[in-house]
Amino acid sequence: MNNSIFTQTLKGGKTDRPPVWFMRQAGRVLPSYLKLREQYSFSELMATPELAAKVTLLPVYDLGVDAAILFSDILVIPEALGMNLNFTDSGPKFGKALKDISDPASTLHPDASKLEYIYKAIDEVIKTKPSDTPLIGFCGAPFTTLCYMVQGLSSNHTFPDAVGILYQNKKSAHKLLSLITELSIEYAVNQVKHGISAFQIFETHAGLIPADLYFEMIMPYVRKISAAVKLAGCPVIFLPKGLGTGIANITPEDTDYLSIDWQTPIEVARRLVHPEIGIQGNLDPRLLMADQETITETLEKYVSFGSENQNWIFNLGHGFIPGIPYENAKMVVDWIKQTNWKRT
Ligand code: CP3
Repeated sequence: MNNSIFTQTLKGGKTDRPPVWFMRQAGRVLPSYLKLREQYSFSELMATPELAAKVTLLPVYDLGVDAAILFSDILVIPEALGMNLNFTDSGPKFGKALKDISDPASTLHPDASKLEYIYKAIDEVIKTKPSDTPLIGFCGAPFTTLCYMVQGLSSNHTFPDAVGILYQNKKSAHKLLSLITELSIEYAVNQVKHGISAFQIFETHAGLIPADLYFEMIMPYVRKISAAVKLAGCPVIFLPKGLGTGIANITPEDTDYLSIDWQTPIEVARRLVHPEIGIQGNLDPRLLMADQETITETLEKYVSFGSENQNWIFNLGHGFIPGIPYENAKMVVDWIKQTNWKRT
């Protein structure tokens, strides 16, 4: 374990400013990444440990963020479950969606060895990173992973077939969620063994279903992944995007930190969320399209929150989107580091 400001905050220590990193910080906005993409496809970058490690560390050097997140994707789990996946220029596409999930165990053929190249990438990051830079590992949460598997495409963001099976075919949905969870646990624990300092569970599409249904059908699986990661000695950050007031029902057993989306004001989130759970978030990534004066005005609103809350990691409410000027992202990091957070 290193002694970075990110790790100190996760451990409950006192620091004079919040740590900062961004979801999707490696791809999408860095000129150095876009330059590499002229030469290599996304899959090549991800599958070659030396390149994946290089991309993972780009934001640490270019933006000055306080943590690196592994350059990979949540869809490696469906791939290792036996689905045929292509990352095209317009996003990931499965050869064939899993429309019929009546018997997922007979359709899918989990092969955990298909994830080995990712552990090699982690080893390479650990070997080459600055010693005080923590590495964040991750996986998709079971529902978001199921959404892509059942729908096949990422272009339809309402995932009607995936949501439909939660109502129409609960038993099969549970079988599929179990398969995803089992492999995700093995994957997560291996990431910890290879040296990550924190683990984030991405439930990007939590907001597609009512919070009650989320807690009934999905949360038990998230809890299993989280418990395994914590047992392995690694802190957990959970992003349930769009869960709304449902965040009030998350317990410290579920996660150490909760990543708040941009829909929920950070002070409201702090009041709703269990006091032992830390908060991460929650700048609207689209604000970074605005001029720097407008961005600074919004950042200033975080100062009183940051002075009163030590258990807070600055981040976006969701990931970077293509087109955000690199200078604006860099300005946010500099601003967070230079501001007087009035912490006593
Ligand atoms: O900083 C990073 O980029 C870290 C690595 C990372 C990627 N994907 C790389 C990637 C992480 C943490 C993810 C998570 C991920 N992948 C999620 C959950 C988080 C979120 O932002 O909601 C989801 C839903 C996916 C699935 C996925 N992968 C989609 C829908 C797409 C296409 C649209 C998009 O966001 O770009 C991807 C492609 C992808 N994954 C890219 C990168 C860098 C773009 C590939 C390229 O360079 O062309």
